[in-house]
Amino acid sequence: MRPIIIAPSILSADFSRLGEDVSAMMNAGADWVHVDIMDGHFVPNISFGPAVMGSIRHITKKPFDVHLMISPVDPYLEGFAKAGADIITVHAEAGPHLHRSLQAVRALGKKAGVTLNPGTSETAIEHVLDDVDLVLVMSVNPGFGGQQFIPATLEKIARICAMIGDRDIDLEVDGGVTPANAGAVAAAGANVLVAGSAAFKGGAKHYGANVAAIRAAAESARGMRV
Ligand code: DX5
Ligand code: ZN
Repeated sequence: MRPIIIAPSILSADFSRLGEDVSAMMNAGADWVHVDIMDGHFVPNISFGPAVMGSIRHITKKPFDVHLMISPVDPYLEGFAKAGADIITVHAEAGPHLHRSLQAVRALGKKAGVTLNPGTSETAIEHVLDDVDLVLVMSVNPGFGGQQFIPATLEKIARICAMIGDRDIDLEVDGGVTPANAGAVAAAGANVLVAGSAAFKGGAKHYGANVAAIRAAAESARGMRV
């Protein structure tokens, strides 16, 4: 069974002291840094670009998991690869040439991820499963942190888990993940849990407990704990 990975979304970090805050979160036991990139076109919000991401790359050796909510996406892949991305995830809805985008990510030497909005069927990724290292299932409509988890996501996770079969692919879920629903998310088959608000809640002194609570809920639901 793949290990449970907790990936805090730095969209919920304190941007006035981003490096310090992300460093505190990684030292508190988080596994990956989830980086949300928004363009004000594909999603109704703007976050930041590769220069800001690159400026905090040195603070941890842990993987940077970059979620590109941008369209077009191809012109920006190289910039994020050079800024230190380890995994680059593109939306299936971002353009007509998903397969080309995924090949471009791998050609840059990075792991390729594909993601689906809540309203998009899992059939959209059926023909690219051999070209990805990660599938990200959106459990909110992308654009903002702090939204409610959409329950229908659980069935989609289970279906995609079955589609993945024994392929070497991480199954990630993003949006509204909390200790209260992390168990159901993991039981449905996800092994990477993104959390923004739930991870950064209460400030740095709570990060360790926040991450541990999400991890414990996910691991116990998979029967990994007694
Ligand atoms: C949504 C982003 C998510 C989000 C997660 O557009 O992709 O990563 O910020 O934040 P929470 O956990 O607060 O929903
Ligand atoms: Zn995200």
